[in-house]
Amino acid sequence: MTQPRSMMKIGINMVQNGGHSSGWRHLDADPDIANDFEGYARIIKMAEDAKIHFVFLADGAAVRIPHSNAEELSYHGHIDRFEPLTLLAALAAITSKIGLICTASTTYNEPYTLARKYASLDHISHGRAGWNLVTGWSEDESLNFNRDTLMEHAQRYARANEFVDVVTGLWDSFDDDAFIANKASGQYFRPEGMHVLNHQGEFYKVRGPLNLRRSPQGHPVIAQAGSSVPGRDLGARVADIIYTGQKDLQLAQEFFADMKARVAAAGRDPSQVLVMPGLMPIIGATEAEAQARMAELKSLVHPEVGMQLISKTFGDLSHLDPEDPVPLPLPESNGVKSARDQWERRLREKPMTVRQVYEEISLSSGHCVVCGTVETIADHMQRWFESGACDGWNLMAPYFPSGAEDFITKLIPELKRRGIFHREYEGETLRANLGLNPVPDLKNKSNDGRSKSDDRISMSN
Ligand SMILES: Cc1cc2nc3c(=O)[nH]c(=O)nc-3n(C[C@H](O)[C@H](O)[C@H](O)COP(=O)(O)O)c2cc1C
Repeated sequence: MTQPRSMMKIGINMVQNGGHSSGWRHLDADPDIANDFEGYARIIKMAEDAKIHFVFLADGAAVRIPHSNAEELSYHGHIDRFEPLTLLAALAAITSKIGLICTASTTYNEPYTLARKYASLDHISHGRAGWNLVTGWSEDESLNFNRDTLMEHAQRYARANEFVDVVTGLWDSFDDDAFIANKASGQYFRPEGMHVLNHQGEFYKVRGPLNLRRSPQGHPVIAQAGSSVPGRDLGARVADIIYTGQKDLQLAQEFFADMKARVAAAGRDPSQVLVMPGLMPIIGATEAEAQARMAELKSLVHPEVGMQLISKTFGDLSHLDPEDPVPLPLPESNGVKSARDQWERRLREKPMTVRQVYEEISLSSGHCVVCGTVETIADHMQRWFESGACDGWNLMAPYFPSGAEDFITKLIPELKRRGIFHREYEGETLRANLGLNPVPDLKNKSNDGRSKSDDRISMSN
């Protein structure tokens, strides 16, 4: 197995209104922050001052809460959110070091469009862009994109595999130094420095080239967030960051080892792919205070909201009392298979009531919640990090802004004091700050099957 790294990587996961679906109801929460750029900006600047590696924006192009009418939906906090690439472009202008990663789905986009957008963000931010590649899980999204149902899991991943190859191929459209802008000769770029993709596959036909110079990172960082077998294989083949939901140390260690083995089997260096689970810290001055905060957060969940939230993984349980145990087996899922499988395994070992499950899911969308003092939370993070369970964390706040300010001003300094989190950004790009090798200049890259810098590729088709 790969050696644990000495410094953990940390991102801040900015779910609108916080990771807790009812967090906006908290006395300290700003319930209007989801559509407030200045509110986001203040938190991200604070995160940058604390040297957090990146901001991470999860996303979906729909209101993704199962509901049958507006009244039902109207109690949820996860409704309105910014289009994340637009938000990151604005944040790029007011920050200089922090990485800027957001989700975009391969199911509801065209590869040319996304290749162009992320390369543009990489230029605008001087090398800080990242793409969280997802295939989507929500029926609601499919209804906004000319479909009646969610595309089948296997097909979504087959398309995603081809999609990402087209995107990375397009990012290689021009050599890094292709644009010579020679005013004397009148030549704007070196023709041999241009590479036309001419991709024709099962799902996509894309000629190229991208109408943009190669971006500062060559390839923006790629994160991948599906943990099913096809998700893991895709991540192992193409991703720099694996974002995952893990709650149990042993399962997290198994996942970590499995991912690193898959990365090696894909012919890549396992140390170059960072496994970063989500984590929501609930911090108190004492353990008792932290537990009281957690109880308060749980009490904010309206039972109907909870029932709806769990229906995507557990099916319709509205006929049950919240104090009834969750019945097994869980229904098969065409959405987040990995989440369904983890829950099935957990509930077989330790049954939980419907209420316990929805309180947990509402709190953190199923991510690990660690409740305690700064010291005990830091202990947890350090233990996982040093025992081969992760390379770092995606930290979530239950609500904004103080939920995030709490971990930025209290927990991060403790991790620095312990010497397991950096005190300064190491480089200029997100790749450099994450300790990832730069993507080679195209001229030093040969036989990659897509970009041959010595070929003059036909523009005829
Ligand atoms: C930790 C985690 C974060 C995810 N974030 C998003 C997201 O922001 N948007 C989205 O549409 N899907 C998201 N997904 C869904 C996955 O990327 C994937 O498309 C879905 O989970 C189905 O794949 P799986 O069965 O391999 O997990 C996330 C999944 C996980 C496990």
